[in-house]
Amino acid sequence: MGLLGDSITIRGGKPLIGRIELKGAKNLVTKAMVASLLGETPSVLKDVPNISDVRIVRGLLEVHGVNVVEGVEEGELIFDPSNVESAHFADIDAHAGSSRIPILFCGPLLHRLGEAFIPDLGGCRIGDRPIDYHLDVLRNFGAVVEKLPSGIRMSAPNGLKGAKLELPYPSVGATEQVLLTAVRAEGITELKGAAIEPEIMDLINILQKMGAVITVDTDRVIRIEGVDRLEGYTHRALFDRNEAASWAAAALATEGDIFVGGARQGELLTFLNVYRKVGGQFEIHDDGIRFWHPGTPLNPVFIETDVHPGFMTDWQQPLVVALTKASGVSIVHETVYEQRFGFVDALVDMGATIQVHKDCLGGQACRFGQRNFNHSAVIVGPTRLHGADIEVPDLRGGFSHLIAALSAEGTSTVSNVGIIARGYENFITKLRLLGADFSTED
Ligand code: EPU
Repeated sequence: MGLLGDSITIRGGKPLIGRIELKGAKNLVTKAMVASLLGETPSVLKDVPNISDVRIVRGLLEVHGVNVVEGVEEGELIFDPSNVESAHFADIDAHAGSSRIPILFCGPLLHRLGEAFIPDLGGCRIGDRPIDYHLDVLRNFGAVVEKLPSGIRMSAPNGLKGAKLELPYPSVGATEQVLLTAVRAEGITELKGAAIEPEIMDLINILQKMGAVITVDTDRVIRIEGVDRLEGYTHRALFDRNEAASWAAAALATEGDIFVGGARQGELLTFLNVYRKVGGQFEIHDDGIRFWHPGTPLNPVFIETDVHPGFMTDWQQPLVVALTKASGVSIVHETVYEQRFGFVDALVDMGATIQVHKDCLGGQACRFGQRNFNHSAVIVGPTRLHGADIEVPDLRGGFSHLIAALSAEGTSTVSNVGIIARGYENFITKLRLLGADFSTED
């Protein structure tokens, strides 16, 4: 999609059928790119998807003096950090766009340059998405944090030292912050309450290749022994399991049959269990997973999103579209983000029966229960969706809008689709490959 005009017109009701290929996970690749800053020699990352989040991180690395070039293989990037230098605040701000990744540059830049700047952070509009855990962790390593009107300046006048840390919640980003900082900090770091998502484990693989010493214990404890020097790495990124789950949901919602090349069972176990309970069919192959609609009515389910190994928050939005077609009442309790049901308004406009509630419905009470957040959804089906004009709110919600439009009767115009390119490589080409009927603005 040559960052297309911002809207597409979809003529729905056609099953998506065919094969698409995944590349590396957005939520690993962008962090692996930051890790290249820690090496004394160049790093090679393979299976990098062509998505705008990758372009943002590439731009940020380049303004900090990292030379980034394409390798011989499609999707291969080489990062040479020999000339890392401080960047101007305005350049960082201009390149960061709405990304939250700049916060992860802090540890590596503090090690290399003694200072780091981060602009005001964006990311998808899914709740407040604060950075307090990140700042607390960095302060514990010895960073001095100064809040300025336009962002945050950090310095490490006495270097960074290993620390005993405990996260109040197993945050993915804060765990990565600890890893990227502790590997070169002096002494030992112990992190309790760590997140253990597969993307984090793959980042640990990368850091170990670079020379780091990291132990992952049971019960979410990670120990890191700081080292004086790290080398560059060569690594093929873990596949994008969130994209895999999105296409799997698209197969269900459109009554289609999609082979997702590169998808693997291990990192999708929890998703596959729920998919099977809904009635979705799948077949595991060496080179991917085939997902398809059973041809009979779908079953309602209860889902509670959670940190790994639970059901990922990024999987619920596309699946909710399929649940509007299940016969009965489904419940989705979102426990990771407080406001991740904004996308259902558009589905309701298209004819879905979905209500969102402030209570913790169906399962355990979660930390959002008494705090006035609409974080439980009740979906009553089966409904036939009809076309509508809808606007993409965020990355995963946006993909679910696409699926809804593809499965609806009639024509829909989906605007603001540029956001989807943040995390879904060539999604327009993939939709064409799968036989979708649509036209773009350009
Ligand atoms: N949180 C805080 N303070 C912090 C950091 C997080 O309160 O300083 C809270 C968040 O507000 C949220 C919870 O902790 O309620 C979990 O956030 P986490 O830090 O785990 O999320 P993240 O690192 O910002 C990554 C992915 C998300 C994915 C989550 C959960 C990236 C770039 N983003 O976000 O992916 O949903 O982990 O697995 O890795 C996406 O791909 O669309 C996406 C949003």
